[in-house]
Amino acid sequence: MERLQKVIASRGLTSRRKAEELIKNGLVYVNGQKVTELGTKVNLDADIIVDGKHLESKPKEYYLLNKPRGVICSLKDEKNRKIITDLIATEARIYPVGRLDYDTTGLIILTNDGNLTNKLTHPSYEVEKTYIAKLNKIFTVDDLYKLKEGIKVDGRMVRPKRLKIKATDKQKNTSIVEITIIEGRNHIVKNIFKTLGYEVTKLSRISYDFLTLGHLKSGEYRKLSEQEVKKLLKKSS
Ligand code: URA
Repeated sequence: MERLQKVIASRGLTSRRKAEELIKNGLVYVNGQKVTELGTKVNLDADIIVDGKHLESKPKEYYLLNKPRGVICSLKDEKNRKIITDLIATEARIYPVGRLDYDTTGLIILTNDGNLTNKLTHPSYEVEKTYIAKLNKIFTVDDLYKLKEGIKVDGRMVRPKRLKIKATDKQKNTSIVEITIIEGRNHIVKNIFKTLGYEVTKLSRISYDFLTLGHLKSGEYRKLSEQEVKKLLKKSS
């Protein structure tokens, strides 16, 4: 469910503010009923008539991107940094599902399907996300088991689904760790390791639920197949 003026705007007819005027002026019908109340929430695929004309919902688009470093997961940036939607050639108003930090690389989905986004980012869906983290020190076996058991990060318990030490460089005093979590809080991986006294110096997401990067190089993307979208929607229904 989403606010009616937002749904009208997302279908490309007009701005949110103009949509509010149309609603107030009694020109909007949703599923056969006139709606004049501004805060009204409607289904994203609702049947909407504005000023006597049906408002078609925009075709849904779904992309899987291998995000490079130095790109921000936001729709605009005051500091004029490169934003993630600049990397995808489409006219659709797509946005990222969740966030990766400016300096994090790897798998991210972008779509204009609010329904799927809401489901995937809802904590009850429990999407498994796998990251490869480079740490500024050697990750000790003690800390590995401590983290496996679960630790509190910013007051909330985190227990990784999987945790492996992939490599340890004794000369450079660094470790590479693979961690799979369901949490989606901002900076969660960095904060997990910070809690244990490590700094993440490099971070990449290599999988999101059943999706992996495959052969996509940094900055490359592909459309999700119909089957993949169905699988994501089905799991989340
Ligand atoms: N956890 C982080 O700390 N950063 C990300 O970009 C993603 C997960």
